[in-house]
Amino acid sequence: MLLRRAPFLLPGAVALLLGLDAGLQLLNLPSVPLANRLPDVHGMLLVLGFVGTLIALERAVALRRRWGFAAPALLGAGGMLIVPTATARAGQVLLVAGSAALALVYVSLWKRQRDEAVTIQALGAVLALGAAMLWLRDVPIPSLLPWLAGFVVLTIAGERLELARIDLARNGPAQVCAAALVVATPVSLLWPTAGQPLFGLVLLALVGWLVTHDAARRTVRASGLPRFAALCLLAGYAWLTLAGALWLLAGPVLEGPAYDATVHAVFLGFTLSMIMAHAPVILPAVLRVSLPYRPALYGPAVLLHASLLIRVGAGDARDWELARDVGGALNVVAVLSLLVVLVWSAATASRRSATRDRPRAAPADASAQAPAQSPTEAPAIAPPLRGRAPEVVR
Ligand code: HEM
Repeated sequence: MLLRRAPFLLPGAVALLLGLDAGLQLLNLPSVPLANRLPDVHGMLLVLGFVGTLIALERAVALRRRWGFAAPALLGAGGMLIVPTATARAGQVLLVAGSAALALVYVSLWKRQRDEAVTIQALGAVLALGAAMLWLRDVPIPSLLPWLAGFVVLTIAGERLELARIDLARNGPAQVCAAALVVATPVSLLWPTAGQPLFGLVLLALVGWLVTHDAARRTVRASGLPRFAALCLLAGYAWLTLAGALWLLAGPVLEGPAYDATVHAVFLGFTLSMIMAHAPVILPAVLRVSLPYRPALYGPAVLLHASLLIRVGAGDARDWELARDVGGALNVVAVLSLLVVLVWSAATASRRSATRDRPRAAPADASAQAPAQSPTEAPAIAPPLRGRAPEVVR
């Protein structure tokens, strides 16, 4: 299974590494000189090439149809092709095709589940498709930021909604916020002066609703993985609140320190934190590998948020270049250390299971170990059916 699915994840992982290298180049820090165009494609590489591929692969696994894997394959290939100048256009076309395929995956999932949480995630895919199409028409990335942010935010909001198992009546405000975000996105492109504050306002309403209803507020008092996931989720919501406030109050956010702060509050503070929260559950479900929770995961998580505080709080807020550079470099270390902890965790888990020849006592915190012990039953980031949400990330 690992060998069957890993090829879909590999381009996403390469996009992550190339994107991090591009981030260092954007800050004029020491980096590996892989391609001149890398800084130009940093954002798309990371949002559609890395995050998009990860989300699409997880959704394809949930759909359990072969054609669904076209979405991660196209997004992954598109991410790779946008780097060399010669294939950049072809790569952009593949990103459009991959986002369209992801939207179709959601249509199929919705036909099966008729679930409003899937509708919200589908709206996110529509924004990804819009971003990819507009980029193909040479719309600059800063103007596309709400589209890319909307994609990630609605995907994760829909997933949290699904896991929270809130009934339809109480879901109403979340659906209204999601629909309003979709309307505010093109408005922010056409009339940034009014549209970006509107986008920020709707984002704040959505994050307010999520914080109020997310089970993370309860599970933060648990232990093991549920507590770790809850802390990552709550920290992510805090960063998303900052991004919403910047969009609302800082005028059109299209360049300069406010732009850097908004972009990375969304994509590092919120998105990467959410990925950290769900990694011990998503990756076993997608790759069918054991990936037990380890307290060592706190290392990358703490480093991510602390380095972002340095970058945004000291660097961007005071326009202090040194702090932005130090924070940015530590951001890269945080993401790389997450990869190291995940690989170490998987490697030691498989070694242990290979040498296991006698039954062991139950672990002290059974809930924290659940995904590792039965990876084939581990639910995806958003399980295919309501009622199968894992307590471990609720
Ligand atoms: C981890 C280390 C990272 C560093 C050092 C870094 C650095 C940068 C820098 C310096 C900029 C230019 C900001 C400006 O023009 O004011 C930028 C833009 C951007 N970054 Fe990052 N970044 C990192 C991670 C990420 C991640 C993980 C994502 C997404 C998942 C991301 C998405 C973006 C986007 C969408 C833009 C806007 C691109 C553009 O305007 O062309 N970044 N980044």
